[in-house]
Amino acid sequence: MSERRALVVGNWKMNLDFVEAVHLTQQMGVLLRHEPAGYVDVLVAPPFVDLRSVASVLESERIPVGLCAQHVNDHESGAHTGETSISMLTRLGVATFLVGHSERRTHYGMSDDVVGATLLAVVRAAQRAILCVGEDLEVREAGEHGEFVTDQLESAIRALSPAQRELVTVAYEPLWAIGTGRSATDEEVREMAQVMREVLSRLDMSDGRLLYGGSINAENASELIGQGVDGFLVGGASLKAESFVAILRAVDDCYAELR
Ligand code: PGA
Repeated sequence: MSERRALVVGNWKMNLDFVEAVHLTQQMGVLLRHEPAGYVDVLVAPPFVDLRSVASVLESERIPVGLCAQHVNDHESGAHTGETSISMLTRLGVATFLVGHSERRTHYGMSDDVVGATLLAVVRAAQRAILCVGEDLEVREAGEHGEFVTDQLESAIRALSPAQRELVTVAYEPLWAIGTGRSATDEEVREMAQVMREVLSRLDMSDGRLLYGGSINAENASELIGQGVDGFLVGGASLKAESFVAILRAVDDCYAELR
């Protein structure tokens, strides 16, 4: 673990217009300049319409934060009204793509097949992907979460070559913990991290980073970082510079101690 770096991603979802997004990015820049998080790779995933403005601020103020897309279409171009392609986003400086966030799967009918096709399209374009998986409350209460997440991982990753698999990071996000204020417990994260690491090792992805997402804040971040995950996907707490940077600090402090 000692050479590893953590990864923390702020998913802004459908929040912040471009003026608000610029403001938040500048505030993050000020806080990070004051006290950098040396062991943490940081990404933000703003709404598409904010990307250009956020990219300009990151570049002009040399803020060490990368750009991630919340979603992408698996086709290259053409008659897909309302959709956005990988090349359009990479042109704006995006180098990492969330694939299969549970809100896309549940509210916008993104099936396992489409998740698999999107993941393949991203890695074929030599870009990085964060594959999101996780069970809902019903599956959890039936005790089938391990199997469910294993199936989600295998169905999406199976078609990828070994080199393509290196571009994939996996995020475990139980639906019952997203936006609910009830994060998974230490034990729940530890148990799933173990199950998922076994699946990833069968898929020749033992070196990949594993993230957890679901009601992360600065307090539970320092608890959960010790439970077999390498970082977090953060929703609500990434919308304020102070709360997001507090999470980065908490993770950074844990990694600094391990060196
Ligand atoms: P949350 O969202 O931190 O607001 O629970 C996490 C996510 O959906 O990535």
